[in-house]
Amino acid sequence: MDYSKKIAERQWNLPDKGELESRREETYIDDIIQKDHIQRKLLERLDGIRTVFDGGAGSGRFSILLAKLGCRVTHFDISQPMIDKAKELAAAEGVLDRMTFVKGALEELGDYADRSFDLVMSFDAPVSYTYPHQNRVIGELARIARKRIMISVSSRLGSLPYLCNPVQKNQFILNESADDPFVQWCVANRENAIQAFRFDLRRAEQVLADGLLGGQREIEEYEAGKAPWCITYTFLPDELARVLQGFGVQNIALSGPGAYGRTLPREILVKLMSDADQRRDFLDFCYRFDSNPYVCGLGKDNLLATGDII
Ligand SMILES: C[S@@+](CC[C@H](N)C(=O)[O-])C[C@H]1O[C@@H](n2cnc3c(N)ncnc32)[C@H](O)[C@@H]1O
Repeated sequence: MDYSKKIAERQWNLPDKGELESRREETYIDDIIQKDHIQRKLLERLDGIRTVFDGGAGSGRFSILLAKLGCRVTHFDISQPMIDKAKELAAAEGVLDRMTFVKGALEELGDYADRSFDLVMSFDAPVSYTYPHQNRVIGELARIARKRIMISVSSRLGSLPYLCNPVQKNQFILNESADDPFVQWCVANRENAIQAFRFDLRRAEQVLADGLLGGQREIEEYEAGKAPWCITYTFLPDELARVLQGFGVQNIALSGPGAYGRTLPREILVKLMSDADQRRDFLDFCYRFDSNPYVCGLGKDNLLATGDII
C-alpha cells in the first residue's frame, strides 16, 4: 500500500500547503530550531559537494540554500503545489538555472543511476511517510549518493511524549495571533484538548513496540475521508544506524534537533526568540546539545543521520 501517495493526495497537494510550509520558521519555534540545526549540519561539510538530490524537498528550504551556494540541485517532491512554491522562491533568489524540479515519489527512484549525486538529502521525515517501504527507500537514497547522505526521519522516542501531550504544538507557537489556520486551531482548542485527554497506555506501548503512528483505525477514518493523515513510521536511533550501515553508509552520526528546546516552556522560548543576541546564543547551544548522540532519540519530531559513502 502506498500511503505516502494517499497522504499527498489529501495533505501535501492542498493548494496553500507550499505557502504555509514556506512560512513555518515565521510561525513555529520548533521549526526554527530544527531547520537551523539541519542548515548547520549541511554547511559544516559541503567540501566536494557539487551535485545534490533533495528528496521531499518541499518549498525549497534546503534545496534553494544549496543552489545559492553554487550546487546543482535536483528538487524532488511528490506534491505539485510544493514544487510550484519552491520554483517561485528559487526564481526570487535567482537560482532557477541551477535547479531541476521533478515531481515524483521516493518509492520510485529507479530512473536514477547508482552514485548520481555527490550529496543525497531528505529532511523532515519524507522517508517516514513511505511506510511500509521506508527501509527500501533509504537503500535507494544511499544507492544514488556518491559521497554523502543526510536524512531526517520521524523519531520514535521523540514522538512518544506526544501521546501524553495533546497540546504539544502550543509550546512552540511564536505568535498566537498569527494568521495561520493551524495556529488558530491550536489556540482555540487548547482547553478542550486538555479536558478531553486520557493517557492511552496500550497505544503508547504499541508505538514503542512497532513504531507506527497511525494504524488500522486511522486508515479506515482516512478512507472514509475523515482524517488528513493515515500512517507514519518512526525510527529508533540504533535501528536507523543499522539500516544505513546495511546499505554501506559509513561514519554515521545521529542527532536530535529540538531535544534541548523541548524542555522549555513557551514563555521562555518566545522571550529567547525575540532578542537577537539571546536567540543566536540559544540556537548555538541547541545545536551543540542536540548533536550529542546520547540525546538524539529525544529530538522533537526528527532523528537526523549523516553518513559517508566510501
Ligand atoms: C515536512 S515537508 C519537508 C520539506 C523539506 N524537506 C524541509 O525540510 O523543509 C515533507 C515533504 O515531503 C514530501 N513527500 C511526502 N511523501 C513523499 C514521497 N513519498 N515522495 C516524495 N516526496 C514526498 C511532501 O510533499 C512535503 O513537501
